Amino acid sequence: MYISSITLSNFRNYTSQKIDFSPHTNVIIGDNAQGKTNILEAVYLFSQGRSHRAKSDKELIKFGCDFSKLSLDFHDAKRDYNGVIQLVKNGQKSIKINHVQITKLSMLMNYLNVVMFSPEDLNLVKGSPSARRRFIDSSVSQLYPAYLTSLIDYHKSLSQKNSLLKALRTKGVKSDVMLSVWNEQLSREAEKIIRYRSEFVDLINKYASVIQSEISGEILDITYSPGIKLDNFDTNSIFEYLEKNQKREIDFASSQIGIQRDDIHITINKNEAKLYGSQGQQRTAALSMKIAQADYINHVKEEYPILLLDDIMSELDINRRLYLSQKIKGKQVLITSTDTDLLESTGSTKIFKIKNGSVIREGT
Ligand SMILES: Nc1ncnc2c1ncn2[C@@H]1O[C@H](COP(=O)(O)OP(=O)(O)OP(=O)(O)O)[C@@H](O)[C@H]1O
Ligand SMILES: [Mg+2]
Repeated sequence: MYISSITLSNFRNYTSQKIDFSPHTNVIIGDNAQGKTNILEAVYLFSQGRSHRAKSDKELIKFGCDFSKLSLDFHDAKRDYNGVIQLVKNGQKSIKINHVQITKLSMLMNYLNVVMFSPEDLNLVKGSPSARRRFIDSSVSQLYPAYLTSLIDYHKSLSQKNSLLKALRTKGVKSDVMLSVWNEQLSREAEKIIRYRSEFVDLINKYASVIQSEISGEILDITYSPGIKLDNFDTNSIFEYLEKNQKREIDFASSQIGIQRDDIHITINKNEAKLYGSQGQQRTAALSMKIAQADYINHVKEEYPILLLDDIMSELDINRRLYLSQKIKGKQVLITSTDTDLLESTGSTKIFKIKNGSVIREGT
């Protein structure tokens, strides 16, 4: 899969800019704050329907403007696609793929697959469980729209259940039939979500452990650590478990058990990576997991995703840089950097020099 061109109008610091990409390596060079990451963010938007860093779509509209428009041409082995996204300051965002209006986020999934690498990936190893859940969710939803639908439904029910738990504690009530209604809906979605997550983590473990061993000779092991401590994850077992904990959840006035507490357990040479890994080991593990994410997408879809490498070359030592360069050969990749010296240029590499929201030079 590859993207051929993007047009940005009033997006971040871009007024009007069209960029034609190479199907192989694209290097986006420029000083700090010139608009390099903005380009990757724009591409990412077509994959996930939202920015990888902005809290609100409004941040994406150029200062002083009322709307923003982006258009992206992309291609897979089967067909050509054109995506158009319009962001309006005081209104709803509109997304179209090949002129068809996308009315819910799950409809957008599985068109454009991307994997974003950034220095913050270290949080996959060092950060809180939520960073690892985001990693699972963004990988699996890209390929399985039904997963995203389950996840959205689960979180809607969870927030209703939490409101009820608060109300019950305030009233001093110890049980309520509505609690069982929410528990039933939560267990139904949880069963599906757990199945997807556990399959995903198994595959990531398979790929990432090979990558880690190739880079550093270390043994990386990644396992799914469900927030629901059961041997059997069918809807009924989850439901009974939730029901047993009604009283405790009312006491806490919030849900204590569920897939919202899931995590991924990561060890390097059998020691917990978060606690005992050196900075270098943790960085390698995070890199291995991200490359594995791309391998996973390729495995399921038989299309390699577009790789967005945001300023990561400077973070990697020469060994890891060379490994990554080998791994991405022949794939489409967009790399941002302030320094061309860090990058290995081949005949098919296209270089864009960015200044103040414009491509000021373009070449090979
Ligand atoms: N909504 C917006 N309207 C106009 N300009 C914006 C908007 N949002 C961000 N910017 C500007 O975009 C620039 C940042 O762009 P970007 O994050 O792409 O920089 P960068 O080239 O990746 O820099 P660095 O090397 O520091 O990561 C800043 O100058 C910022 O002021
Ligand atoms: Mg940047």
